[in-house]
Amino acid sequence: MDNIYVIDLFCGCGGFSEGARQAGANVILAVDNWKEALDIHELNHPETTHWDTELGRDIEEFSVKLKRFISDNVPAGKHVHIHSSPPCQNLSAVNSKRKIVEGYEMIDWTIELMVRVSPTTWSLENVCHPNLYTYPNAFRFKMEDYGVPQSRRRVVICNGFDPKAIETSPVISAFDVLSQYNDRDVNWLDYEIMSSGSYNRIFRSIRKPCYTILWHRQAFRNKNDKSILTLSGKETSIFQTFPSTFHVGNGQMIANAVPPEFSRRLVSSLLTPGQ
Ligand SMILES: C[S@@+](CC[C@H](N)C(=O)[O-])C[C@H]1O[C@@H](n2cnc3c(N)ncnc32)[C@H](O)[C@@H]1O
Repeated sequence: MDNIYVIDLFCGCGGFSEGARQAGANVILAVDNWKEALDIHELNHPETTHWDTELGRDIEEFSVKLKRFISDNVPAGKHVHIHSSPPCQNLSAVNSKRKIVEGYEMIDWTIELMVRVSPTTWSLENVCHPNLYTYPNAFRFKMEDYGVPQSRRRVVICNGFDPKAIETSPVISAFDVLSQYNDRDVNWLDYEIMSSGSYNRIFRSIRKPCYTILWHRQAFRNKNDKSILTLSGKETSIFQTFPSTFHVGNGQMIANAVPPEFSRRLVSSLLTPGQ
């Protein structure tokens, strides 16, 4: 697998990069315009080149720069995978102020970049906005089928590989996670999962996967006395499948991330044409 060279655009603190690293790929470049997230990415991936760059601007200039980076850093004939996670706030149903046209401008800019740079394979991950399903090679799925203990729904637009080759596995419940990492004196079977934000009057059995991890700390309600427990930052990061040694940054970075377990499986499934 170390013959795959990964470039992570809109890298955040490095959820996608972490899974790629676990799959054995070389993460050679990470790009974001959020300095604090890049600093955390660099703590986790000191061997990676980091660009603090505003994406979505002059596509000719950026594609030339990216192609030059690839030719300077990747031996000829090696597999280059570019992943991108453009910001999803403008396409997310939980954002009442979303600007859908702007959301799609960034998606289209990113796909045009992939066409210009033409890596061996590429993937673009985002929330499940209906127009996204109409893009060629859009793959809609629930993270819970890929080892992530959340019912997080996502779309990956992919090129050069078969998303059906990504390894699936049985669903992991919130109870499975909490009982494995339990460092509190709590009987989690007395609790139910609370949905977040304005929907927080909806509850789900702890025997089910968690709701999508958002910036607000995930809460659990005691079914008997109605008391509420919220997850610590470390517990939250474990629901996002970050290893316990990972520097996770703040709640927004954790919630934004592609769960590493999913990206590990995606990168593991990449097929080099001709192999
Ligand atoms: C969904 S998060 C990415 C999460 C990341 N893939 C991970 O797995 O941790 C989107 C990222 O895009 C970055 N971003 C938003 N607009 C940007 C822009 N115009 N240029 C570069 N980065 C941008 C944000 O700072 C944020 O880190």
